[in-house]
Amino acid sequence: MKKTIKAGFVQTDPAFGEVEENVRIALREIKGLGAELLVLPELFSTGYQFCSMAEAMELAEEVPNGPTTEALLEASASSGTIIVAGILERSGDRLFNSSVLISPHGFVALYRKAHLFWREKNIFTPGDTPFEVFDVGGVKLAMMICFDWYFPEVARTLSLKGAEIICHPSNLVLPHCPAAMITRCLENRVYAITANRAGVEQRREGEPLRFIGQSQIVSPTGEVLYRAPAEGSDSAALEIRPSKARNKAPTRQNDIFKDRRKDLYRL
Ligand code: ACM
Repeated sequence: MKKTIKAGFVQTDPAFGEVEENVRIALREIKGLGAELLVLPELFSTGYQFCSMAEAMELAEEVPNGPTTEALLEASASSGTIIVAGILERSGDRLFNSSVLISPHGFVALYRKAHLFWREKNIFTPGDTPFEVFDVGGVKLAMMICFDWYFPEVARTLSLKGAEIICHPSNLVLPHCPAAMITRCLENRVYAITANRAGVEQRREGEPLRFIGQSQIVSPTGEVLYRAPAEGSDSAALEIRPSKARNKAPTRQNDIFKDRRKDLYRL
C-alpha cells in the first residue's frame, strides 16, 4: 500500500439547474489537480434549494446509470482519481440526497444522507444505507454528507469501523461545521475532507441561503491542513498519510477506542 496519497477537494459555486455546466467545471478541476482522491460538494451538479419535489424530480438521476455518475466514472478512469461527489438521486418515486464513491476501476458505493437538514425533509427520503467503510487501493474511505456532522455518532461509527479518511460532501449554511469537524477528527483520530460549496441561492422568497465555503482537510490530530476561502471556488490537494489514522493513542497510556467506557454509556 502507498504511504501517502494526494487527496483534497473541489469547492464550486454551482448554478442552480445547470447540470451540464456544473459537471463540466468540476471535471475540469479534477483533471487539473492530478490528485488520487477528490471530494466534491453535496448536490454539486444541480444546486441545492429546490422549490418542490416535482422540480427536484426533474433534475434527479439514477445511480449509477445516470449521466452525472457516468461522467464521473469516465473522469475517474481517465484521471486516475478516486472521486466522492454529492448527487441528487432518483430511485423509483423517491429522491435521496446521496453521494457516490467512484474509483478508476469503477463504481464502488452509494451513500444516502441519513440526517436531513430543514427543508430537505420536504424533498428527500431519509437515507437507508448503512455507515460503511470501503477499501479502495488500500485506503479505507467512508462517506457522510453535510448535516451528518451534527450527529457525532456518524463519524464515530465510521471510525470504529476503520475509516482512515471521511469524505464529506457539503452545502453548509450554518457557521459551526469547519470548527466542529476539527473535533470530529480529534475525537476519532481520523482524516476528514469537507468539500463545501460557495455562493448564494435564493429560489424561495425571503429565504436566501449563503453557503459558507471553507472546504477543508483536517488531520487525525486536529490540524487544519488546508482551508479554502469562504467565498468563491477553490480546490486543493495535499499529500496525506492514511496510516496516521490508525494510531488511536494521544498518549502512550491511552487508546481512544480501547479506553471507551461502554459499560457506563448505557442509556
Ligand atoms: C446541509 O446539510 N446541507 C446543511
